Amino acid sequence: MKITPANALCGRLVLPGDKSISHRAAMLASIANGSSRITNFLTAEDCLSTLGCMQQLGAKATRTGTTVEIAGVGKYGLTPSSTPLDCGNSGTTARLITGLLAGQRFETTLIGDDSLSKRPMDRVMRPLKPFGAEIQATDGKLPVTISGTPLKAANVTLDVASAQVKSCLLLAGLYAEGRTTVVEPVQTRDHTERMLEWLGADISIEVRHNARHITVDGNSELTARDISVPADISSAAFLLVAAACLEGSHLVLPSVGLNPTRKGVLDILKRCGVQVGIDNEREVSGEPVGDLIIEGGIGRQELSLLAGPIIPNIIDEIPILAVFGTQLPNGIEIRDAHELRVKETDRIRAVVEDLRRMEIKVDEFDDGFRVYPGQPKGASIETFGDHRIAMAFAVAGLFADGETTIEGHEACEISFPSFFDALKSVVT
Ligand code: S3P
Repeated sequence: MKITPANALCGRLVLPGDKSISHRAAMLASIANGSSRITNFLTAEDCLSTLGCMQQLGAKATRTGTTVEIAGVGKYGLTPSSTPLDCGNSGTTARLITGLLAGQRFETTLIGDDSLSKRPMDRVMRPLKPFGAEIQATDGKLPVTISGTPLKAANVTLDVASAQVKSCLLLAGLYAEGRTTVVEPVQTRDHTERMLEWLGADISIEVRHNARHITVDGNSELTARDISVPADISSAAFLLVAAACLEGSHLVLPSVGLNPTRKGVLDILKRCGVQVGIDNEREVSGEPVGDLIIEGGIGRQELSLLAGPIIPNIIDEIPILAVFGTQLPNGIEIRDAHELRVKETDRIRAVVEDLRRMEIKVDEFDDGFRVYPGQPKGASIETFGDHRIAMAFAVAGLFADGETTIEGHEACEISFPSFFDALKSVVT
């Protein structure tokens, strides 16, 4: 895919559904009592992996475009799959479904693609032990075999700031005898908690000594309810940064998810003097949503170091924020982001390598990097099979000097299949 420099981004773009919320909707609607209609479901490879796994487990789901109708089979209505469940490239599928399957009355094996098979599963296996879960893996990675067994409730404090791990434990808690509490010292995205509440689970949240204590009752039943999925703020981030960096841009992105645990990128843009407005704020299916309006141009930069508790909030936006950093008067530094080393690819390495290909000065740290301001030069970009690297560097190509080639641009199928068409439709 060739990217040539653009003048501005102008127009209105309806973006695809939120990836995290779509995964959860497919799983939870499948084990609810009654029928649900999920609208604006993300029909990208990751969420289709989840839907496929649920269908293999006996869920009755039919999809027409981005609408998915699910006839829930109830908490104990899932049935064994005769073949392993293929989680594809999706860490969220593998981690969440492990929690869902730990308390079933049958055995399931999970597999995934090469990238997912290198990513850690022991982060969910360890905290599932106190529930009495029986899970086998070699070297803490896929393939994983879950021998469903009766679970007892547990009290677990997360040792990694991960919404996937938290969600896995809450789903196991739904099947455990008693009340399970997951303690989260650093807040991560709370879509699972919100959706469990939306579907009527007995769940409560208390903040004590700055940590969130999330308690779910194993007797909870879920009642089917329609779910309208907002546009994905992590997909919006690529267009927001592109618009911000191209003066004269004016872009409207309707119905974007504005969950406070996800919208750190908006605050960062504002603190770099970018004009971002929010219109028509409302709540949809238990999630805050609004229309975003952005004007091109970077003003006074009030921050250049991103570290600490903001990191989980912007974890998926870090590659595009690195690209944004090239255009900021003081550049950008990211620390406390070790987690990027175990994403779809090592995103610290990938960002550093590709910025250097564009002749941008960058220092690499164990837990992040420092990007110096500069004009990117058109280059041949390696995506390492990672969707967010592909899209972030396509954006860099819009304000680079010369032509940029994205090798392996089809990686965007994982979360935003229409990305390049969407970009073309607003580029001037
Ligand atoms: C996700 C959580 C994050 C994020 C991923 C989606 C989720 O991963 O990077 O894209 O839907 O729960 P971690 O929980 O591993 O940080």
